[in-house]
Amino acid sequence: MSVIMTELHSRRILLGITGGIAAYKAAELVRLLVKAGFEVQCVMTEAAQHFIGAATLQALSGQPVLMQLWDEASGDGMDHIRLSREADAILIAPASANFIAKLAHGLADDLLSTLCLASACPLAVAPAMNKQMWDKPATQRNLEQIRQDGIPLFGPANGEQACGELGMGRMLEPETLLIELEALFQPKLLAGKQVMITAGPTYEPIDPVRGITNLSSGKMGYALARAAWEAGAAVTLVSGPTALATPPNVRMIPVTTAQEMHDAVMREIKKTDIFIAVAAVADYRVAHIAQQKLKKTQTAPTLTLEPNPDILAEVAALPKAPFCAGFAAETEKLSEHAQAKRARKSIPLIIANRAQEALGQDESTLILIDSSGSHALPRQAKLLSARQVIKHIASLL
Ligand code: CTP
Repeated sequence: MSVIMTELHSRRILLGITGGIAAYKAAELVRLLVKAGFEVQCVMTEAAQHFIGAATLQALSGQPVLMQLWDEASGDGMDHIRLSREADAILIAPASANFIAKLAHGLADDLLSTLCLASACPLAVAPAMNKQMWDKPATQRNLEQIRQDGIPLFGPANGEQACGELGMGRMLEPETLLIELEALFQPKLLAGKQVMITAGPTYEPIDPVRGITNLSSGKMGYALARAAWEAGAAVTLVSGPTALATPPNVRMIPVTTAQEMHDAVMREIKKTDIFIAVAAVADYRVAHIAQQKLKKTQTAPTLTLEPNPDILAEVAALPKAPFCAGFAAETEKLSEHAQAKRARKSIPLIIANRAQEALGQDESTLILIDSSGSHALPRQAKLLSARQVIKHIASLL
């Protein structure tokens, strides 16, 4: 069972598809939404039908696709009212320049624009158009108007366009649209807060091709970055080397060594309200890094190590320290070691887990330890754990 399925089961999404070549991506979007546990009702404009077939969307969503405002089979002719009442959110993807203009002016001349006007649920828009259309003052005016009306814009991205040009106006990929949509449903517990998160391992070079590192996939730190952004925070992720994609809307500062991670954190810590140290920082580095690759010798070489800065302890000791949370990945005596770390680093919250159960996994079992005691979370997807950690931090602030 997928992560989102547990949490968002029975959320109803009305997916509006308007006329643009990006409409072909609506098929993949519907598939992802359904897989994530959403019920999807597709509504197409007349122009969208030139770009993708209703049968495709019907097969993927399991629901007949609606297209006509004047549908004689619909009985009382109140489809627009019924559909907008039933939806938990409306997403228009792709939203053409023409449809955005209609939204900006409150026009209702087909089923989709009418039900947008009749809706009481959140409405979000994923623009997709050629860059000249995007740049036109009229389009920019309309976008500004819908922003002011409280309609979130998902994207667009800058990139290659179907017309062969490069520029602004490319629709976000379906995976990113799903992440954006899920964020609509999360409470904005950290609105206006600046959050900094360290994640992943650090890598301490021995010579140009060898180094010392810790095992860490970065999954928990990246999940927390996404959860903090979903909660409305501005998020900076300082990450050691990982194979993960940066969550959308998160500012990423890539680093390699513990010293680089330390310096990146310290440069911006004054602006930070909440610091969450998830990185598996190497406690030691090699005192003298060889400039050339070390050659095998008869006798085994000895490495002289020196300590790295303890980033979390240093941040927690600042005169105007942000709220600090740390992680303790332990192989034994979980609570005892985590409690000791919390005291040693003088931090209000430590999150303990068993290293052997969490490493590289998509799920985790966390224990949150603060001044009021221990709070055990169930074994669950890291994103769900991360959302609960964020909720807990918000309650402690
Ligand atoms: N941490 C840090 N900088 C370091 C070492 C650790 O910021 N140089 C942070 C980690 O990100 C984590 C917490 O401190 O949030 C605990 O890390 P851990 O390595 O488990 O703690 P140590 O104090 O190094 O204890 P030990 O290695 O002995 O278990």
